Amino acid sequence: MPKAAVKYACSECGYTAGRWFGKCPGCDAFGTLVEEAAPTPGAAAAKAPLRLVDVDAAEAERIATGVPELDRVLGGGLVPASLVLVGGEPGVGKSTLLLTALRAMSRDRRALLVTGEESVAQVKLRAERLGGAAGVEILAETELDTVCASLERERPAVCVIDSVQTLYAADLGSAPGSVAQVREAAARLLRVAKENGVATIIVGHVTKDGSVAGPRVLEHLVDCVLQFEGDRYHAHRILRAVKNRFGSTNELGVFEMTGTGLVGVPDPSALFGKTRDGEIGAAVACTLEGTRPLLLEIQALVSPTDLAMPRRVGTGVDPKRLAMIVAVLGRHAGVALGNADVFVNVAGGVRIDEPGADVAVALAIASAAKTAPVQSGLAAFGEIGLTGRLRPATQSERRLQECAKLGLDRVVVPEGTPAHGKLNVEEHDTLRQAIKAGLDAGQSR
Ligand SMILES: Nc1ncnc2c1ncn2[C@@H]1O[C@H](COP(=O)(O)OP(=O)(O)OP(=O)(O)O)[C@@H](O)[C@H]1O
Ligand SMILES: [Mg+2]
Repeated sequence: MPKAAVKYACSECGYTAGRWFGKCPGCDAFGTLVEEAAPTPGAAAAKAPLRLVDVDAAEAERIATGVPELDRVLGGGLVPASLVLVGGEPGVGKSTLLLTALRAMSRDRRALLVTGEESVAQVKLRAERLGGAAGVEILAETELDTVCASLERERPAVCVIDSVQTLYAADLGSAPGSVAQVREAAARLLRVAKENGVATIIVGHVTKDGSVAGPRVLEHLVDCVLQFEGDRYHAHRILRAVKNRFGSTNELGVFEMTGTGLVGVPDPSALFGKTRDGEIGAAVACTLEGTRPLLLEIQALVSPTDLAMPRRVGTGVDPKRLAMIVAVLGRHAGVALGNADVFVNVAGGVRIDEPGADVAVALAIASAAKTAPVQSGLAAFGEIGLTGRLRPATQSERRLQECAKLGLDRVVVPEGTPAHGKLNVEEHDTLRQAIKAGLDAGQSR
């Protein structure tokens, strides 16, 4: 009798091999290859393809989740029969957010919560804290077959699985939460969701480096991947779309955690985009997250150091981008930082991904280095090039609108940015000019 084939799969990147390696050849992680039973091939019947013209696609109406910030990130609501993955660190508020959404959706459709982590009583306690969720149906189950069978029979419009790591398929043999189990669970749920028209949201835990635990294949499988980020010790949480088959990615939702649950913050610029007049090392950036302009306070600290390799530490900014900005400041704008540690922080625990915030980051650092405050009522945006010249940022119209809305009257921008209403838009060609215009030299200390 032939020996049963055994496969080894990496729990980080999904790489598979016929033998075991200490170091994964796919992603170079150590000790991540685990044994997986290979599937037995079965006889399959051929199926006739369809022409697109024969497919009848009734424009599926999106389901409003009742949480406007979540709708925005999903691209205007939940698409029926889609599979959404919500990832986030422990305790960030995934269960709270999804229970709030289920509660609103249960008013006019069937909404089911499958909980593998918490008991029915614990969910009830949370629901009471959120103001009651009488209409939500709940199933405490971890057996994958049972969950799928229940979904097929009940066919709710929306279902939340909390979490995918607790689901367990007995026929696989490996432990719950292992690559094989998580992948199988996601694949089976995908099939059930598409066949029965159940919009399914699965919760996934994240690993230390922030990716959803289990193989990357999970992210390819689902229609939409949302990341719920934020500091457990601060009240604000950020929800972002990392992948979205039905809408724009990089949309941003902002929430505040309160005693009665998560409350959306409709106007985060007013919250995060304020600096105190005359404060050294603070500047306002006008960034764009998806379609949403956002004013953010950037703080910088420059302190002398004896280290041979001065530190460049950024919270909320990309470290490579920060190193580049520091280098351009030294080389092209006369702000030498070779003997200084530079720390940069973005307000509210927001992470900036786009280069449009470069000028404001540079302005905050220059302000800290020259001990001169940034002029009051001033915001900045634009990308910095390696030659010290500024490049226009995308969708400047939107950004300027946001500045005007929040009552800022001067904006430092790259050359070629169109004028806007009553705003004083100051165009500059180089970083050196932008810093000269932005700092209040008269108040230098
Ligand atoms: N009474 C309360 N008042 C304010 N905040 C609370 C209260 N109870 C819970 N929280 C907040 O809710 C958070 C836990 O939320 P939740 O259980 O939804 O997180 P989670 O992401 O589902 O966590 P896990 O990964 O462990 O399932 C806590 O970190 C806490 O900040
Ligand atoms: Mg939870």
